[in-house]
Amino acid sequence: MAEDVVTMDKIVSLCKRRGLIFPASEIYGGIANTYDYGHYGVLLKRNVIDAWWQAMIGDRDDIVALDSAIIQHPRTWEASGHLAGFTDPLVDCKACGLRFRADHLQELSCGRKPSKHPGETPECDLTESREFNLMFETTIGPVKEAGSTVYLRPETAQGIFLDFKTVLGFARRKPPFGIAQVGKSFRNEITPGNFIFRTLEFEQMEMEFFVPPDEAPQWHEHWLKERVDWYTRLGIRADHLRLRAHDAEELSHYSSATSDVEYLYPIGWSELEGIANRGDFDLTQHAKYSGEKLEYFDTASGERYVPYVIEPAAGVGRTVLAVLCDAYDEEEVGGGTRTVLRMHPRLAPIKVAVLPVVSKDGLPERAREVFDLLRGQMQAEYDEGGSIGKRYRRQDEIGTPFGVTVDHQTLEDGTVTVRDRDTLQQERVAIPDLPAVLGGRLASPWESPKLARSDEAAA
Ligand code: GAP
Repeated sequence: MAEDVVTMDKIVSLCKRRGLIFPASEIYGGIANTYDYGHYGVLLKRNVIDAWWQAMIGDRDDIVALDSAIIQHPRTWEASGHLAGFTDPLVDCKACGLRFRADHLQELSCGRKPSKHPGETPECDLTESREFNLMFETTIGPVKEAGSTVYLRPETAQGIFLDFKTVLGFARRKPPFGIAQVGKSFRNEITPGNFIFRTLEFEQMEMEFFVPPDEAPQWHEHWLKERVDWYTRLGIRADHLRLRAHDAEELSHYSSATSDVEYLYPIGWSELEGIANRGDFDLTQHAKYSGEKLEYFDTASGERYVPYVIEPAAGVGRTVLAVLCDAYDEEEVGGGTRTVLRMHPRLAPIKVAVLPVVSKDGLPERAREVFDLLRGQMQAEYDEGGSIGKRYRRQDEIGTPFGVTVDHQTLEDGTVTVRDRDTLQQERVAIPDLPAVLGGRLASPWESPKLARSDEAAA
């Protein structure tokens, strides 16, 4: 692919223009760092999550799935350390009334003079930095005062630790084995507003891999490699991915070693996923707070131990954002600029668009038949509104790999044109052959496809 032309502004505007992702509560003026996913965004997100499940439980048999509750017993967060330690340092500006992350002032803009950082103008009046807990609090029971305080989970991981014993009982697995979960987490974040990079609610794809303690370092290495490979299989460019190990100060309270998979977003290298060696911290803490034994007893060897945990923890939104940034391209075609998302066909929200070249002469009816032929096999879309050029442009912008056009020749010989999103080449295919031709191209394995540009193809 050519050098990056992408900026965060271009991604934000494309997502809004095509209804993939847009600000939530817009009719009320929006709500901070909260976004909604429209039709294509939902389909893209679902494809990312499906690819993750495929890697976790489709391609291997040492991991089982779980869907635990978002609101857990409040003792969970005492035991996990989140109640005491899951905080960000914040400062308030008494002049503009805004609140800022004390450790990110250099990335933030002053409320009154956006060209300056908070604290840089003579009018700025920042308070001392204070620690704020990131967990959202709510109450169980109809009366707030008499109810008990509970928290929206800030990570899906703790539900897995709470269910460790139950899952061990029915999963018929022994360490090394994993429990995987996808679901929403919530953090009361103050953010500089980098679109969906950091939001108040977000989906995580987390897997806790329980291993004999002496095998933890090698399994950590295993998961570092596996996870980077997964992103490259999604088609993300290898030179936009890197692993970065945390230094001692950066490590979370539970971790003895963490490396982040980072992606080169338009905002610079930033975390896509964290892969931590959590040791026996969580199981030991929950055993202490609950009084339950959370350990593994190996009946064959008579050995009893608390497994160590290796945790690859990824964000759905950050993966979607990386896929969008990585796929975004612009090129000159026919005297104009074409914007195209060159994403892996398996991730594309729509696989094929069926378009009658004009909406008359019986072409829409024939195109509907083609659409009906394909829709059961792949995510297809029928579109007859507007000029054919505009309709192609729309499909290019949502990354649809194939366009099937029904024209007057179709009525004569039963063939349609298949347009390739990346090369712009068109070929004629007989209608009955379409499911096999397109199905074959989409069934290519999860690997980085050769994404040829139309100018390269033409050369
Ligand atoms: N259980 C470990 C854990 O939660 P984390 O590094 O805090 O670790 C894991 O979160 C991943 O979740 C991150 O790498 C990121 O992809 C995603 N994530 C975390 N906070 C987020 C937020 N506020 N908005 C969007 N994604 C977030």
